[in-house]
Amino acid sequence: MTDSGALAAEPGSPQWLALEWRLMQRRMLACVASRSSELTASPLAVDTGIYTDTRRHFAERERLFMQTPLLAGFSSELPEPGCVLHFEAFGPPVFVLRREDGGLDAFRNLCPHRGARLVEGDRIGSAVVCPFHAWRFGTDGQLQFRPQDAAFACEGPAPALCRVPVAEKHGLVFLRLDPAGEPVDVEAFLGPIAPLIRSFRLDAAAHVRTDAVVTEANWKLVVDVSCEGYHVPATHPATLSPQLVPFITIHDSFGRHHRFASPARRMQEWVGQPEETWPPSHYSAVHYLFPNTILTYSDAIDGGLPVIALNRSFPGRHVGETTVLYSSYRPASAAAIPDSGFLALHEAVLDINRSEDLPMVGRVWRNYQSLPDPAPLLFGRNEMLLQRYHADVAEAVGMPL
Ligand code: FES
Ligand SMILES: [Fe+2]
Repeated sequence: MTDSGALAAEPGSPQWLALEWRLMQRRMLACVASRSSELTASPLAVDTGIYTDTRRHFAERERLFMQTPLLAGFSSELPEPGCVLHFEAFGPPVFVLRREDGGLDAFRNLCPHRGARLVEGDRIGSAVVCPFHAWRFGTDGQLQFRPQDAAFACEGPAPALCRVPVAEKHGLVFLRLDPAGEPVDVEAFLGPIAPLIRSFRLDAAAHVRTDAVVTEANWKLVVDVSCEGYHVPATHPATLSPQLVPFITIHDSFGRHHRFASPARRMQEWVGQPEETWPPSHYSAVHYLFPNTILTYSDAIDGGLPVIALNRSFPGRHVGETTVLYSSYRPASAAAIPDSGFLALHEAVLDINRSEDLPMVGRVWRNYQSLPDPAPLLFGRNEMLLQRYHADVAEAVGMPL
């Protein structure tokens, strides 16, 4: 494909993604040929306080995570009316419900009588009945019936379920956890990365599995380790490193969302070869969606099966606790491949995170905690995503880096 094809291709179309990939391959190959990487203008000095400061932690919880649209899952996790998607990794638990007309509603999973959890499981019928005293709510959240109704007679409207803003687009479901928050506008939130997300056809991706891991570290340390390739040779010498050319990454920013990619080792054989002879390959990159989501779209995690892997980090009740959700999805292009292959891939990715990344993050965190005062840290010119997303998080909570 030539660059002129880019002008003709509809943004977000398969042809457009193929061209996007070709342009990325050229940049990666140029780096391989010159033994260099794409770099920012300068390193960025920060200190450990951005991870350990309790005031900052609670500002992030309240001003960032309660207000920013958060990825709750994929549309395909709610395929039919009555299907429920639970979101419990941060804040008050919420359930998302697929309506009869195909739209989505989201409510806190909390009874307005005395706070019982209302919905278990992944499906509800025509009403929600609280297991504590049997108040019954319609799927619109309105109270339909309560035993001994007269005992609760008082001024004002009847109590209803607490609605939470929810929206879906391009196969993604986003929540804003503040019930009084603005409606979610997915297109506006994604901004310039929307065509890329659309091109992945996530609405047709099948959910394989989600695992929740609670780890002792600040949530941003967990995000950090997925946002740079610099650690791969030392931290993943036997797992990821054999597949990737060390210390080469290309980066792109799409507003507050970002992308990086590293060349596969086989690309080293292409140096000096005409482009027409490059073997066919699929788009493969890691995407950061503000503030806490890493979406890997790669047809080559194990050199074979295509996979979509998500990891989402959520700040816990204190500064040193993080809940991480690891999810895998089977892309539409791989519908013919059996579930067992994808489950094995999910396990492999989870194992790398649990046995290599999270232990490293935990040791870093314990070091930070041992310090009597904040100590200086440095994000290198090759750690571009860290420089950018930390700046955006700091700006969102109104605290300097
Ligand atoms: S707490 Fe739900 S009916 Fe009482
Ligand atoms: Fe890693």
